[in-house]
Formats: sequence, structure tokens, C-alpha cells
Amino acid sequence: MKLDGKVALVTGSSQGIGQEIVLRLAEAGANVVINYRSHPEGAEDTLAKVEAIGGQCYMADCPNHPPNSRGYTVQADLGSVDEVRQLIADSIQHFGKLDILVNNAGIEKHAPFWNVTEADYDAVMNVNLKGVFFATQIFVNHLMDTKRTGKVINISSVHEELPFPNFTAYCASKGGLRMMTRNLAVELGALGITINNVAPGAIETPINTKLLNDPEKLNALLKNIPLGRLGQPQDVANLVTFLASAEADYITGSTFVVDGGLLWNYQEQ
Ligand code: BGC
Repeated sequence: MKLDGKVALVTGSSQGIGQEIVLRLAEAGANVVINYRSHPEGAEDTLAKVEAIGGQCYMADCPNHPPNSRGYTVQADLGSVDEVRQLIADSIQHFGKLDILVNNAGIEKHAPFWNVTEADYDAVMNVNLKGVFFATQIFVNHLMDTKRTGKVINISSVHEELPFPNFTAYCASKGGLRMMTRNLAVELGALGITINNVAPGAIETPINTKLLNDPEKLNALLKNIPLGRLGQPQDVANLVTFLASAEADYITGSTFVVDGGLLWNYQEQ
């Protein structure tokens, strides 16, 4: 399979898009580290699904861990650089290496600009931007130390381009991610490390619980989506799996929008 022998870490993979990415990567043959912050039951559910896919750990004879699971769960808050460091160290210790980093964990807080608190601003920026920056830095150092190439895939958002009133810190974090990706594509190219963004639109996941429970808002949004439906986590996960594979070796510094046409749907009435 495409990712046989590879090890992937997917941050924020106890639910939603992250969980689906883990499952697609595992189906493609990878060993997967499942990270969660506050939903151990979600991480256990992801792990059970990975184990149901079957297949042996690529290190089946490794004395350090039970040989028959291709999944491993680690608790860590991506908003803390110390915890990010521990997460990556744990992953490498468990599976011997990392080849693929999917920076998926992300949060958003709704508030008009004039009411945004410093605590909410920091929470959003720390997980969505600082966490990605340092997770990528630590991952790149691991690849350099072991003289290997690898792939970084960031789950960004259409809001790295598109304004989203009442979510200014979120948009700033995703806009920052866009520039981080372009910069690192240049800086990491000589190391054979690629980095790309996947930018989902409105996907049916827990981050959208409020919207999903508000028929009026949901219908207004659906009218703006040319394909006429919300996205599903697998719409995003399929592309991530491709970008993680050798088939995407020549692709770096790009953002790929997965939004049913939402971003470019301006219409004069
Ligand atoms: C946000 C969702 C929003 C979607 C489309 C995503 O980045 O997380 O809350 O519905 O963009 O606007």
C-alpha cells in the first residue's frame, strides 16, 4: 500500500476531520499516532477503528511495545510547546520514527472583535499557529537528525483567505499558517521535506455543532455552497492521504481548498 512502513502523527485526532485522517492513513498502510487533548474516549474510539482495519505494526518485532497495533494514543495540548515536545518525543519513542506530520488540531472562538478577551485570543493563536510552528520545528529536527525526508500537512481553512466576521483571531491564525507554509516550502525544500495546506470549508464535524443545530444559519450557509451540501471528513482526509504519499513528492508550498466551491461563490443578486 501507499504508506506501508510510514509513521504519521495526526494532532487533534479524537474526533472530526483528524479522526478520519487517521483512518485513511491507516488504511493506506501507515502506523498512526492519535493525539487528543480532552477526549480520551474519542482517542480510544479512533484507536479501536484503526485496530479494526487490521494489519501489523511495521515494527512487528520491536521489543518496546506490543507488536500488533498500528495505533498509539497520546494526550497533549497543542497550545503548550512543552506538551508538543513531549508528544513528538513519545511518538518517536513508541514507533521508532516519524515520517508524516498532520497539523490538524485547531480551535475557534466566536465573539465580536470588540469583546475578544486576551485569554481567548491566546488560546486560538497558541493551538492554531504556535503549536503548528513548534510541532513542525521539532519534527523537522527529527528528520534532520535521522537524515530522512518527510511530509508536513497543515489543516488550515478557507478562512486563510476569506473573512469570517466574529472569528478574527481564528482568521489571523489561518492567514499566518498560509504564510508559514509558503516560507517553509522554501526553507525545507533542500531537505526534501514538503509542506502543504489543506483548507476545508464547512465540514460536518463537532467544531460546527452550533451551526448544525441552527436550521436558519445552516440553510443560509448551504445556499452559499455551489455543491449544495456540507463537506464530510473523508472529503478532506482523502486529499491528506494523497499529499502524504510519494505520489505528491513534487508538491510543496500549496494550499488545496476542499469546500464545495464556497470560497469563490460571490454572486451579485
Ligand atoms: C470553520 C467553520 C466554518 C467553516 C466555513 C471553518 O474553518 O471552522 O466554523 O463553518 O470554516 O465558514
